[in-house]
This record gives sequence, C-alpha cells and structure tokens, in this order.
Amino acid sequence: MKVLILGSGGREHALAWKIAQSPLVDEVFSAPGNPGMDKLGPCFDIDPTNLKDVQELALQITPDLIIIGPEAPLAAGVSDVLRARGFDVFGPSQAAAQLESSKGFAKDLMAKYGVPTAAYGRFSDLTEALDYLETVDGPYVIKADGLAAGKGVVIVESQEEAENTVEEFMTGKFGDASSEIVIEEFMTGEEASIFVMTDGEGAIYLPAAQDHKRVGDGDTGPNTGGMGAYAPAPVIDTRMMELVQALIVEPMLSGMAEDDMPYQGVLYVGIMVTKDGPKVVEFNARFGDPECQVLMAGLPGDIVPALLVCSTGGLVSSHASLCDMMGLSSFRPSATVVMASEGYPGPVTKGTIIEGVSRADELDDVTVFHAGTDVNEKNELTAIGGRVLGITATGNDLPTAISKAYEGVAAIAWPNGFFRKDIGHRVLK
Ligand code: AMP
Ligand code: GLY
Repeated sequence: MKVLILGSGGREHALAWKIAQSPLVDEVFSAPGNPGMDKLGPCFDIDPTNLKDVQELALQITPDLIIIGPEAPLAAGVSDVLRARGFDVFGPSQAAAQLESSKGFAKDLMAKYGVPTAAYGRFSDLTEALDYLETVDGPYVIKADGLAAGKGVVIVESQEEAENTVEEFMTGKFGDASSEIVIEEFMTGEEASIFVMTDGEGAIYLPAAQDHKRVGDGDTGPNTGGMGAYAPAPVIDTRMMELVQALIVEPMLSGMAEDDMPYQGVLYVGIMVTKDGPKVVEFNARFGDPECQVLMAGLPGDIVPALLVCSTGGLVSSHASLCDMMGLSSFRPSATVVMASEGYPGPVTKGTIIEGVSRADELDDVTVFHAGTDVNEKNELTAIGGRVLGITATGNDLPTAISKAYEGVAAIAWPNGFFRKDIGHRVLK
C-alpha cells in the first residue's frame, strides 16, 4: 500500500520511519517532508494547510492511507476535504480538532462531559475577564483560545501581571487567536502525555510519555515545543492509566460521538497528576513532538494496521490483534534528546552546518530524526529551524535508553546547536 504523510517535523519523520518498516507498505510519500523523510520516499514541496494543493497531491498519488502530523492542517479542515474525496485519513475532522484549536471549546466539552480539569472562565470581553481576575487567587493561568505556536499560555503570580497579560492577549498579541481567552485555576503535580489511537469508538492506549517543555536544564527558561522525551513515564502506573481511561478518555470519546463529532486519529491527553487524581491540562489533536519519536522507536511491531483501522472504523472488534501487531506489550523503553539551534525558542541563525548524523545513526539502537534540517548546494546538512534533530534511542531500561541517546548526541558535530543535558531527570534521580 501507499501512505502519504503530511508535515515536516521530527514527529512526521518518526511516523514515516515506522510506517516504512511495515511489510504492508510499498511506498511512503511526504509533503513537504524533510531531508530525513526524503531518504524514505518522495517528498512534495506543498503547504500541508492548503486545501487545494493537498487534494491535488492526494489525487495524483492515490494513497491508501493519509496521516496528518501537525495541528495546522487539522484546524484548516484538511482531513474533511480528503475524506470527502474518499481517502482514508488518520486525523480528526476540523470540528473534533477544535479540542486543540480552541481551548475554550475543549474546556466547555470537558465541563459538559464531567471530565476533571482546572476550574476556568472563558472570555471574549476584556472588562468581564478583568472582573473575573478579582474573584480568583493566583498563580493565574491565562491561555489564548486559539493556536499560538506554543506561546499562548502564560502563568503569573500577581494580579497586576495577570491583568497586563489579559489586556495584551485580548488586544491582539496573537491576533484572532487571543481575542478570546481562558483563565484557569493553577494545578500542582507532575505532568505526563497520554496518547490514545481511536476510531471514535475503540481506543488503543500507548505508553505514557513525558516531555521536557522548558528550554533549560532543571526545567528553567521559556517554554518550547519540547526539548526531549521518554516513555514509558513511571508517573502513570496501571492504576493512574485506568483513571485516565475511565474519567477522561471514555467520557470524551463517547460524548463527542453522541454530539456528532466522533474523534478519529490520535488524542493527545496532557494531564497533571494532582493529589486529587489526574486532571486534563490540555488536549491536542495529534501526536506530540518529540513524544511521537519515543513512541515510534519503542514500538517493536507494525503500527500500520492500527493506523488504518483508526481511520476506517472497526477498532473495538480488532483491538486485541492490533495491539499484538504493534507489539504494545513489549514496548522498549525509549528516549529522545532534541538538538536545537542556538537562540531557540527565540530567533535562530539559519544555514549552520551539521556533521556526524550518519555516525550517530549507525550506533546500535540509535535513530536520528530530522526536523528543521535542509541540504545546501554542497550537499551538506544544515539547520534551518529551531528544533533541528531528535536523537532517539531504545534500551532494556530507561537509564540505558537515555545514555545511548546522549552517545548519539556526542557523535554529532554542530557548534551552533545546543541540547538539554538532563532529559529523563525524573526517572534517573
Ligand atoms: P498547555 O499549552 O495548555 O499545555 O500549557 C502549557 C504548559 O503550561 C503546560 O504544559 C503546563 O506546564 C502549564 N499549565 C497549563 N495549564 C496549567 C494549569 N491549569 N495549572 C498549572 N500549569 C498549567
Ligand atoms: N511536545 C508537546 C507537544 O507536542 O505539544
């Protein structure tokens, strides 16, 4: 079969890498892809949010399965137009993807279905938002309603800072994305990400992962898209996973199905393990990046049958065999260390030269996933983005996986890059 993957990040490279290993798959196409994905099959330089270009490409390739990696095409309705053309698509509809593209929408649904999350207020009127701040205590969690490239959440201590942030957001800091906001109660606990592959009815729970969102060692500095990850995350034990399933995922999936927006694809449940149990921090409508890299590396079996069934339906009856085919019960502990361009998450210099990627890739159990890379006219690998490489390794246990990932990092020569030196510190301590 032919598979088309939309996106160009480390997440999409990891998906393409895993999918290309399936005996069911003859060809993997990427759009736009990256130099890592280019080695696995043809890449097409189109904007994956452009409905017309994506449809034209799909009609040209006629893939048997289309995987939508990032949130922007989902929010733009790419899955809807492709499904309307008869393609099998792994990725939620535009309506269901609002779980990520509108924080207020997600909070209202959680309230409706009784799903545990932080108390909140949703505002499109500045005066009402400022009045609400008078009635709650800090720390204050202020979120832009729409997609803001990971920068739309601000947490501040004082009421004055909260008022300033609310005013900045609602007067156009992120344009339309922040004209409406959510103000949330602050939750305390350890965070984890849980990924649920679903056809809208059945659900496959992948091992919980933990991301490292802050740019600096010891979880310091500004938030990023994620500087590293590992799985399985011990904070989610069997009991916690059962609670997440019963209190969060099942009510969301059945509620959305009843409300005529069944959720098909992967549901990313960002949770906080609080003293009162798991609570939702956020939903995303896609795999996490770099969480996807650790999940794809750690799964020993074939994920393609499960991706296909999630996009066509019938997961409930085939659940056990799909989990077997994926090798879910023999998941290998896995870790990713992200290498980013100096300056990230701020502005970065483009075009710096990276050496040693193949040296790292050749190490046992190490795989290098590309994100913001390019190849220059001299055929040298260069960095063109913030997050550039995800050095991923598996091992018999997490400490081994983490140390092998760092061996991979050490094999790479890139003076203009940096990485966190403490990925997995919570399991190593
Ligand atoms: P989000 O994009 O909603 O996941 O928020 C980004 C980060 O802000 C999360 O990963 C948390 O670390 C933090 N955060 C978001 N909401 C809350 C909350 N209600 N209480 C405490 N921390 C939060
Ligand atoms: N790693 C966090 C995210 O993908 O949203």
